[in-house]
Amino acid sequence: MPKKVYIETYGCQMNLGDTEIVRSVLVDAGYEMTDSAESADYILMNTCSVRDNAERKILEKLTHFKRFKKKNRNLRVGLLGCMAKRMRETIFEQRDIVDLVVGPDEYRRLPEIFAIAEGGEKGIAVRLITAETYDDIEPLRTDGRSAWIAIMRGCNNFCSYCIVPYTRGRERSRPADSLVKEIEKLARDGYREVTMLGQNVNSYRDETTGADFADLLARTAEAVPDMWIRYVTSHPRDMSDRLIETMARFGNICKYIHLPVQSGSDRVLSMMNRGYTAEHYLGRIKKIREAMPNVALSTDIIAGFPGETLDDHRRTLEILEQVRYDGAYMFRYSPREGTKAWDMPDDVPEEEKIRRLNEIIDLQQKISKEINKGETGRLHKVLVEGESKRSKEDSQGRSDTNKLVIFPNPDGAIKVGEFVKVRIQRSTAATLFGEIVK
Ligand code: 5AD
Ligand code: SF4
Repeated sequence: MPKKVYIETYGCQMNLGDTEIVRSVLVDAGYEMTDSAESADYILMNTCSVRDNAERKILEKLTHFKRFKKKNRNLRVGLLGCMAKRMRETIFEQRDIVDLVVGPDEYRRLPEIFAIAEGGEKGIAVRLITAETYDDIEPLRTDGRSAWIAIMRGCNNFCSYCIVPYTRGRERSRPADSLVKEIEKLARDGYREVTMLGQNVNSYRDETTGADFADLLARTAEAVPDMWIRYVTSHPRDMSDRLIETMARFGNICKYIHLPVQSGSDRVLSMMNRGYTAEHYLGRIKKIREAMPNVALSTDIIAGFPGETLDDHRRTLEILEQVRYDGAYMFRYSPREGTKAWDMPDDVPEEEKIRRLNEIIDLQQKISKEINKGETGRLHKVLVEGESKRSKEDSQGRSDTNKLVIFPNPDGAIKVGEFVKVRIQRSTAATLFGEIVK
């Protein structure tokens, strides 16, 4: 009987993509995937180290899995992803339940590490491999509608707060030819949407042809005209005019950009090593809006970075008002050992970080609500994702601008994976509600 593997994925979309690589490697090696942790021979956690509370959640979960190990002595528990890389030396001491630790560049070796763990030893593989792009491994996708594809891995930016350059290593890109081939196959297999992934997609470069991200987007948009194309994440410093113009030129490139600003204060941006000023950032937003008037924008914000004054914080609120994002991911600063910011005095008290964060969240919530109110009466093309969480009579999907749209779909007449036109009737800060227009 094949051994069964259960895997849980945390953190960014890159991890969702990586989990599909892991599945592919394991199924090829004769393992079977399962949705039940209780009946599994292997429990794997694909983890995130970006903030301390993300790590804490996973450590708690590991303690919880101890029960399963008591019941099944042969159960093996593995830590994958960024925490595997970051905690390689301490995790076995902190959680003896862990049997194997495999970092983001070592997934090819999983079967080998499984064999070591089966022999009763602790298995570990955490090298960062600058050439690893998993180019030849076709991810084991299960969705049938929306696909992730990692076009590049790693990050060279070293933003001073961020652990990613240390856990995922240097930037490297997959060749454009093989990416386009894989996406064409997705189209033939009936996929309707593809999201290109990278920590910093604007740094994409095909080593042999020199093609950049704008070139790759244009090639893909032409190759699969009936598919929606999305991407995350962009760096504001590298958001080129050519990229913006390419997005505007193709109807099947979704009009949604996630452009993390992090702070509205030049002083803080400089301490963060972000490589741009608020003025440069606002210039990019202006260019984007001129080229694509109906574009939707989202961002990431960090509240309470070391040395952040009330004036700096006010500038962050100001930039939220100036840009008027459709949505934002907002965090309080979490010190990460080994980063540059770790050595800066973390001098904003925790309660003050929370207060600033709440102020940011309240403002953004108000703006999102106002923007979504303006959606009333508009028509959106929506890709149907499934039943609405609230009611079986309703379905939900995403608009080209990445908004969650809910609409009545009695008897499930419209199937998952279809595109429909929805007229928006009302909204909240996070959701649009409407009716299908034939
Ligand atoms: N503390 C808080 N937020 C962080 N992020 C990255 N590192 C940290 C940290 N140490 C946020 C940034 C980034 C997003 C993915 O996570 O806003 O854009
Ligand atoms: Fe981290 Fe900055 Fe790289 Fe994003 S661009 S992964 S925030 S170092």
